[in-house]
Amino acid sequence: MRDYESHVFVCAGGDCKKRGARDTRKALKEELRSRGILGEARIDTVDCLGLCKHGPNVIVYDGDRPKGTWYLGLREDDVPEVAGQHLENGEPVERLAADRRPRKAKKTRK
Ligand code: FES
Repeated sequence: MRDYESHVFVCAGGDCKKRGARDTRKALKEELRSRGILGEARIDTVDCLGLCKHGPNVIVYDGDRPKGTWYLGLREDDVPEVAGQHLENGEPVERLAADRRPRKAKKTRK
């Protein structure tokens, strides 16, 4: 089995597809190819990551982050930053990573 630096899962479920998952995946491959690191990351698709309304969703597993780095709503335009900073240099893009995004305020009942 080949040893990759990163394993990337791009959701290809219906909701993520509607929101541009194909473009995100295509941009990821092209960006990695242009940087000469396509062989260092494995990109697979999954049917659903359970956060459909936030798509296109992507998880990157690498380094010592067993929970992976979740990128929710990862648009084609965000891909160069993720490819360069995270997949090439090993530093997750904090402003795009799911646990770094501000949570919406909970609705209060009246
Ligand atoms: S369809 Fe992508 S998270 Fe469900």
